[in-house]
Amino acid sequence: GSPFLAYRGPDLYLEDVSLQALARTHGSPLYVYSRQAMLAALAPYQRALKGRQHLVCYAVKANSNIAVLQTFAQAGCGFDIVSSGELARVLAAGGDPAKVVFSGVGKTRAEMAEALQAGVKCFNVESTAELEVLSEVATGLKLTARISLRVNPDVDAGTHPYISTGLKGNKFGIAHELAVQTYLRAASLPGIEVVGIDCHIGSQITDTAPYLDALDRVLDLVEAIEAAGVRIHHLDLGGGLGITYTDETPPSAEVLIGLLLAKIDARGHGHREVMFEPGRSLVGNAGVLLTEVMFLKPGEHKNFCVVDAAMNDLMRPALYEAYMGIVNVQQRTEPAVLWDVVGPVCESGDWLGRDRALSTQPGDVLAVLSAGAYGMTMASNYNTRGRAAEVMVDGSQVWVIREREAVSDLFKQERLLQAT
Ligand code: LLP
Repeated sequence: GSPFLAYRGPDLYLEDVSLQALARTHGSPLYVYSRQAMLAALAPYQRALKGRQHLVCYAVKANSNIAVLQTFAQAGCGFDIVSSGELARVLAAGGDPAKVVFSGVGKTRAEMAEALQAGVKCFNVESTAELEVLSEVATGLKLTARISLRVNPDVDAGTHPYISTGLKGNKFGIAHELAVQTYLRAASLPGIEVVGIDCHIGSQITDTAPYLDALDRVLDLVEAIEAAGVRIHHLDLGGGLGITYTDETPPSAEVLIGLLLAKIDARGHGHREVMFEPGRSLVGNAGVLLTEVMFLKPGEHKNFCVVDAAMNDLMRPALYEAYMGIVNVQQRTEPAVLWDVVGPVCESGDWLGRDRALSTQPGDVLAVLSAGAYGMTMASNYNTRGRAAEVMVDGSQVWVIREREAVSDLFKQERLLQAT
């Protein structure tokens, strides 16, 4: 468990704030994040990289609230973005565009232009076709695009197929065999400057072996690319480090990076800038989703606990059958019963947890744990449900960092047919 999330008597606190009190004040569903937990998750990255040229680029997609981005910007982080929308958030949060890397297989010309004008550090390019278009856009603007190629090291990250990205069958990256020739092409294009190499093999990775295998493959390529006459400055090893949702035992960032740096040094690449793109491991266990129990429906086969949060608020269980811990924020003394915790949305896939031992009554507030990553950022308005509010705590201080979406917001861009 997190040292920032703990019971004091029967009441669950995030830092020095009672979650029951927060839900009463701000309503539910409610996302709550701990600023200190985020900074504590960043610390092992910073410790491991101390004394070497490095950049930790927080992956904005994991949690893109501008107050979260502000927290990481103030801590010295760069950002990994995948759209001009994410770039706009970084800039609004006071992030430094010179510390931004732009990833993704489908950047539009307009997005390339915005990122070039903002002066991002690097484009992580995923195909030859993208490289040609980026060259055109950059020369049109009389600017230079600094690039890495995202190479596909073809290692199995051993994670869920939907979030595994480093295998040959994936849409991501440039095949290992084509990397050298694509680098030569890049180096020949106007408006393009090769600065690094990038890989990202997947997400929620709980083992060091796939990272070390990918690193070996990447360093093999760096040696081949430089032998072919193209200089590589930085190594971007992506994100993907997993967190504990239930009984996973991922390595700490400090241990993982220690092993990677040892290999980088042993192979004679210690002079290079080293970059990472962590998302989940910086925010996942810093957040909870609070939800109120509406109705209990005990049954012959299943007991259903109907709560006011749903798959539109938190998609991970419905989409990946992901396990997220669920606890009562006020512990009861009555014996626990097994409940399927379900939302109000009209789909059988709308569940947050199955067969969970809980002692609960209507009106109780439950906390869905480890909800700081890929929670709010994947939320939708399905069933015309406004998205949840978000709150950040720091010690005993509480900030509302996003207001609850009102129903009037939901269709204000829609238009009735007008008689002609
Ligand atoms: N860099 C790139 C190029 C990525 O595609 C991703 C995540 C990251 C960095 C950050 O990975 P992280 O450190 O967060 O694992 N929605 C899924 C996760 C999708 C991850 C997509 N890419 C989930 O809820 O599990």
